[in-house]
Amino acid sequence: MVKVSTQYTCQKCGNIHSKWVGQCDGCGSWNSVSENHTIKSVSHGLKAGAGKGINFEALHGETRQKKRWKSDITEFDRACGGGIVPGCAILVGGDPGIGKSTLLLQVAGALATKTRCIYISGEESTEQVRLRALRLKLTDARVAIASETSVQSLVTTFDNDNKTGIVIVDSIQTMYVDTIDAAPGTVSQVRASAQELINLAKKRGFSLVLVGHVTKEGNIAGPRILEHMVDTVLYFEGDRGHQFRILRTRKNRFGPTDEIGVFEMTGHGLSEVKNPSTLFLSQRQTNLSGTSVFAGMEGSRPVLVEIQALIASTTQATPRRAVVGWDNSRLAMILAVLDTRCGISLANHEVYLNVAGGLRINEPAADLAVATALISAVIDCPTPSDSVIFGEIGLSGEIRPVGQSDLRIKEAAKLGFKKSIYPESLKRNTKLIEKNFISQNVTHLKDLIEIFPEGVFKSLTNKGHKDGSN
Ligand code: TYD
Ligand code: MG
Repeated sequence: MVKVSTQYTCQKCGNIHSKWVGQCDGCGSWNSVSENHTIKSVSHGLKAGAGKGINFEALHGETRQKKRWKSDITEFDRACGGGIVPGCAILVGGDPGIGKSTLLLQVAGALATKTRCIYISGEESTEQVRLRALRLKLTDARVAIASETSVQSLVTTFDNDNKTGIVIVDSIQTMYVDTIDAAPGTVSQVRASAQELINLAKKRGFSLVLVGHVTKEGNIAGPRILEHMVDTVLYFEGDRGHQFRILRTRKNRFGPTDEIGVFEMTGHGLSEVKNPSTLFLSQRQTNLSGTSVFAGMEGSRPVLVEIQALIASTTQATPRRAVVGWDNSRLAMILAVLDTRCGISLANHEVYLNVAGGLRINEPAADLAVATALISAVIDCPTPSDSVIFGEIGLSGEIRPVGQSDLRIKEAAKLGFKKSIYPESLKRNTKLIEKNFISQNVTHLKDLIEIFPEGVFKSLTNKGHKDGSN
């Protein structure tokens, strides 16, 4: 039995209401609820005995592992967990204009030598896609392109097609299913189109790559609905002001998450960045106070970045705290620990923190590097330029261990650093294989003061800087 029902869906969070409301009670946004009709199949009276029973199989049954499609764009393959798994659905999200279409056309161009690749653009005409290909020097690549927005047409086209390996749909917000009475890009259309396309991909065995624009709130297509439907979610991030872009794995059913691929946007497309640490540290000036180098991990890969802090006087009752590339509440915690456990109070100062280069760090391991940059800014004395720092800070000021210290130190040694400042408790586990590499272990935040030349804290007190006293 088929029933047409009317429902009211919030276009921002996907919350469904039985009647129209001005403010969505799911996400609190105004004027985001709109009416849409859905065709529902309603089933009644399910009885045991009808239909067929399910045959269960043993876990150790036979499996055929298909070879992944490798694009040989290493940064992309790594983010996918070692290449695209045949038959999987991948969602590539990112802000408009960040370079998703460019990346995927390059990937399609690279994969076209191995399998039949199709690039469907709902946003650009085939003419425009060709122009882009010209810019990317991909005109010889055997990618089949089309400009199409109807999911029904795609279902018809691929119905008997077993040759196609990869289908890229750019973007899911432009696709529509006829049976749904809503505009493309609305929650119900995006959900239905994605579901139909994923079903088609699983049935026909091709890998589906969906492009999804991220809205202002940072969710793909408004709600996170698509993330649950696909096997892999990749986010293409970056700052418009910077040349480099990061492809970050948010979810992967066939590989590790938190991997990153680093690219640089050039005049002729995206080029891979094989050693991101060199890129992030390229603008670094070693003799400035308020900076430190953090030895971080992005997935399985060590990345060194510079953390910058600035302390400024203020006339405001509530001084500003601004953070770029790190967690605001984590900064508040470090400031509180510095105040209570080390007597360094910044309550009457504005604090600015920046992860240089535009990278976003999520690791608590950056705590110690942030604290070092802050202390260095307070005492106006540069951190030793040959040192990298990592470690998590606890609320009592103790320095806690973090994972993969060997890899972090190895990367630092590779880039010419001579010293690492890290938690004492890791000393036992770290095989310091690097020659001429000094490790300085810290157990408490107060120990950090020892990395600065003797007397700087004293001179600070003499100057009458009441906030920097030790
Ligand atoms: P695009 O891939 O269209 O972004 P998205 O699909 O995520 O909306 O990228 C658009 C931006 O990239 C645009 O600002 C121009 C820039 N760009 C280059 O700098 N070099 C290039 O070779 C290309 C193709 C684009
Ligand atoms: Mg695009």
